Amino acid sequence: MAVERTLSIIKPDATRRNLTGAINKCFEDAGLRIVAQKRIQLTRDKAEGFYAVHKERPFYGDLCDFMTSGPVVVQVLEGEGAIAKNREVMGATNPDDAAEGTIRKLFAENIEANSVHGSDSPDNAATEIKYFFEGSEIIG
Ligand code: CMP
Repeated sequence: MAVERTLSIIKPDATRRNLTGAINKCFEDAGLRIVAQKRIQLTRDKAEGFYAVHKERPFYGDLCDFMTSGPVVVQVLEGEGAIAKNREVMGATNPDDAAEGTIRKLFAENIEANSVHGSDSPDNAATEIKYFFEGSEIIG
């Protein structure tokens, strides 16, 4: 399997509860390498742009409120099959459906405040990484 990069976001519910390190340990234990990382406060525009694909969904406004409610940690994870592996480590979007031992099962509060985001395809990973990082900020 090819080495891939994927965009990860540790969301405000998790930074608020001081879970950045605990979540990063889940990534590293699964063999994912954190090759870029920064803690930022999303502006409304930046959050709306990131989730533009969901703009017709009923949860879009609340989601953008939530994502700007506190700091997030944006990161690039690298590894063999990193996109699928990260989705496995995160667990299902809704923590009620997430498998035991996954980040969302362990830490998510609900379907919106679900602690982490991860890219869902190679195309989206490339777009999402560019949305937050310059090439020179990613050190493999
Ligand atoms: P994420 O993987 O970041 O992608 C879209 C986000 O919308 C999702 O995680 C949740 O935080 C949020 N969300 C809120 N309600 C829903 C819902 N009903 N279905 C999917 N995602 C939702």
